[in-house]
Amino acid sequence: MRREDVRNIAIIAHVDHGKTTLVDELLKQSGVFRANQEVAERVMDSNDLERERGITILSKNTAVFYKDTKINIIDTPGHADFGGEVERVLKMVNGVILLVDAFEGAMPQTKFVLRKALELSLPVVVCVNKIDRPEARPDEVVDEVLELLMDLDASDAQLDCPFLYASAKAGYAVKDLSDEPKDMTPLFETILDYIPAPEGDETAGTQVLISTIDYNEYVGRIGVGKVDNGTIKVNQECIMVNHHNPDTQQKVKISKLYEFDGLNKVDVQEATVGSIVAISGIADLHIGDTLCSPDHVEAIPFQKISEPTIAMHFIVNDSPLAGQEGKYVTSRHLRDRLFRELNTDVSLRVEETDATEAFKVSGRGELHLSVLIENMRREGYEFAVSKAEVLYHTDERGRKLEPIELAYVDVPEEFAGTVIQKLSLRKGELQGMSLASGGYTRLEFSIPSRGLIGYRGEFLTDTKGNGILNTIFDGYAPYKGDIQYRKQGSLIAFEAGESVTYGLFSAQERGTLFIGPGEKVYSGMIIGQSAKPEDIELNVCKTKHLTNTRSSSADEALKLTPPKVLSLEQALEFIDTDELLEVTPESLRIRKKILD
Ligand code: GTP
Repeated sequence: MRREDVRNIAIIAHVDHGKTTLVDELLKQSGVFRANQEVAERVMDSNDLERERGITILSKNTAVFYKDTKINIIDTPGHADFGGEVERVLKMVNGVILLVDAFEGAMPQTKFVLRKALELSLPVVVCVNKIDRPEARPDEVVDEVLELLMDLDASDAQLDCPFLYASAKAGYAVKDLSDEPKDMTPLFETILDYIPAPEGDETAGTQVLISTIDYNEYVGRIGVGKVDNGTIKVNQECIMVNHHNPDTQQKVKISKLYEFDGLNKVDVQEATVGSIVAISGIADLHIGDTLCSPDHVEAIPFQKISEPTIAMHFIVNDSPLAGQEGKYVTSRHLRDRLFRELNTDVSLRVEETDATEAFKVSGRGELHLSVLIENMRREGYEFAVSKAEVLYHTDERGRKLEPIELAYVDVPEEFAGTVIQKLSLRKGELQGMSLASGGYTRLEFSIPSRGLIGYRGEFLTDTKGNGILNTIFDGYAPYKGDIQYRKQGSLIAFEAGESVTYGLFSAQERGTLFIGPGEKVYSGMIIGQSAKPEDIELNVCKTKHLTNTRSSSADEALKLTPPKVLSLEQALEFIDTDELLEVTPESLRIRKKILD
């Protein structure tokens, strides 16, 4: 059976290429909103943090109606650290809209996500967006996309894809640049014509593969998936089975079933082949589970969820100042919140540690964890976190393996040299260098994940905020040897509650500042570069704000509490004098042999 009244699509795009704006516009134009109802700007991004960062983190579902067809739109996260999620949501759709900025062109992220869509044999509609921009260069961008499709081994059918030009902002799409801009009709029509209707056997036993999990305080876990075969009904008894764990089966009853309508979930009594449904009331529902009829138990194969590569410790703030900055400070608060996060985030792991006051939290890259940290701080949780550490494996030959990432860098030409130098020091191997549009140079590196820890901040400074850095996990490889720290750094001391902490940091560690009160500083930043590499500036800042800062960025933290230079006597109290080579009182510069 083909569900001609349904289309299931995903929009894939590089960050900021206009996905959210486009979906808002499709919603508006499909008449979901009553005429006098104001559409909140960027309706798709409900989460505060997403709004601020402009990155769509969770994937959400929307449905719009065009003519008599329901178009389910699956929003995909734009960032590479969330690549696992992209794969999962693509399993629910029959085609994708590839949205590309008419000035920036195809970007690394576009490539990652597109590759996944092509591997799943999905047809692609290319939509060159932002053609209203004065510097738009749509023709070149079309060529770039075609080249990219060829590079990624697109099939002939995929290469023969429709191209549209759009201004999501102005609310129109056209098939040809000379067409009169009107509205989104050409895009709606292309979706209906070109993206196949979902298919399945409605007479077979029920099979619904759960592709994402949502969580709501009132109803608990909500599984979202597509009805692949059969029909699913309220009060139906199903068997829950997982492809990767076929022996454990569980009998469950469907108590609540929803479909999507606009931005809402609406109750339905039943849904059949091709429908995207949400199901609540099953406490044990997990991503990758298939809900089947008891007479036909067959799990749908599902790509295993990627393992975490990075871990951090979340530590209870036990300083006398605890509670001044946040509402939730105890170990129990922290534990409950972290374990709750596991309901919706399958790439996350949380473990208790020997220290009752600390939890080991592992995830897919630094950004993944920093998003969680920021969310928690916004909600009023107060805690310290350790520096990120990578998770090593060992192979059968006993070799130590480490996670490797591909880093794609776009920088104005004049900064390319610095970036190559910095990433090479961090064990990055330059694999490609090419000219990109607008005077940018594109660099491709293969680099151990640990080499990227703390690098983002440094990268932004080095490229004066003009660089773009995208990374994606590329697998495990034998350990590439220790990173040689350069003889450059800062000594910083922190006063936390009663006690004082100090640490010495190399240039490699610049970027993120995470400290525990009265404990060792886990990671820090260079405060002021010194003239000679061996020279160290001594800077001191109070940590009341730093330990509790709502910002995980050292630069921002320093704005709150500017570093203070100590008197020599005060400074010496903090310093292990054995390590000192020379002290110059006038400049308060301390020479020290660093990590060599
Ligand atoms: P993420 O959620 O971060 O992945 O971004 P996104 O792809 O959803 O992009 P978003 O819709 O947030 O748009 C990014 C920026 O581009 C916003 O400032 C939009 O106003 C702007 N923008 C989107 N579409 C257009 C367009 O057609 N023309 C112009 N000039 N700007 C646009």
